[in-house]
Amino acid sequence: MAMVCISDFEAYAKKYLPKIAWDYFAAGADDCTTRDENILAYKRIRFRPRMLRDVSVMDIRTKILGSEISFPVGIAPTGFHQLAWPDGEKSTARAARAMNTCYIASTYSTCMLEEISAAAPGGLRWFQLYIHRNRAASQQLVQRAEALGFQGLVLTVDLPYTGKRRDDIRNGFRLPPHMKVKNLERAFEVCKMSLLDPSVTWNDIYWLQSLTCLPIIIKGILTREDAELAVRHGVQGIIVSNHGGRQLDEGPATIDALVEVVKAVRGRVEVYVDGGIRKGSDVLKALALGAKCVFIGRPALWGLAYKGEEGLQDVLRILQDEFRLSMALAG
Ligand code: FNR
Repeated sequence: MAMVCISDFEAYAKKYLPKIAWDYFAAGADDCTTRDENILAYKRIRFRPRMLRDVSVMDIRTKILGSEISFPVGIAPTGFHQLAWPDGEKSTARAARAMNTCYIASTYSTCMLEEISAAAPGGLRWFQLYIHRNRAASQQLVQRAEALGFQGLVLTVDLPYTGKRRDDIRNGFRLPPHMKVKNLERAFEVCKMSLLDPSVTWNDIYWLQSLTCLPIIIKGILTREDAELAVRHGVQGIIVSNHGGRQLDEGPATIDALVEVVKAVRGRVEVYVDGGIRKGSDVLKALALGAKCVFIGRPALWGLAYKGEEGLQDVLRILQDEFRLSMALAG
């Protein structure tokens, strides 16, 4: 099967993954309105291409928080990569390093942070945190990630509770017994209730800052008000995100929210976006509207499902080629 565009990987994953895993990756909250809107909103944006601008040499590298990446697409944090490929997050880390981009490893990884680090030494990695009721476990995770050389701490703020994903409920989704949320095993033992702490507030940013020297990137911001609060609380970056439409349904598409956030931030911190990126031209649109870099969630999982680290590299390479081409054609 010739893999030409990202939807080819989606079709492959849909055909070959066990239904319960496919449904978990695909899920959106409630009616999936926001999940689908993330994609539709890109299709409504049009370019104003300029001509005769010598596009014979193009540099698509960029820097995020001072680190160079080969092009402005990184890998968003998603849970349970072993559902897609046996080596799980180790493969993700290797692919990201091979393509010289940033991989945000999720709290809900099925490999230990130590294994992820060892799989791809020297790769650019950020660690994504959910704050748990067991604060000591959260603190320990942050400090472990810092000690292992993760270079940024991504705090996801749109999940005080898990959104209502109908297919997961119908399927009775749970991890197969041979897979574990490895980095939280001990925390699970200590704390039997829902692990997530729904009482988190802006003050907890100060708590995190007291634990770590890592730059803090806040993920899940959708309004100018929260963007302003994020800047005032001293974060270094903002990821405009609605969790791929898996949390609050009927919120805005992220590419629409990006415009409002970029305007409010006025260049004081870096702004990134995720959700619905499926083509290189989507990346160009996000950059044109002020994002420094974008992150992909589901497309990375489809790449892994296709062929592990090689499949994920293919996905990144296709996005890279498409991005370069649309930049050239847009002048
Ligand atoms: C996610 N997302 C997510 N976010 C996060 O901060 N921590 C996590 O563990 C997860 N887990 C997760 C699992 C799956 C299966 C999906 C699809 C998403 C959200 C993710 O980081 C990102 O915001 C979206 O996936 C972006 O949308 P696209 O690229 O999937 O359209």
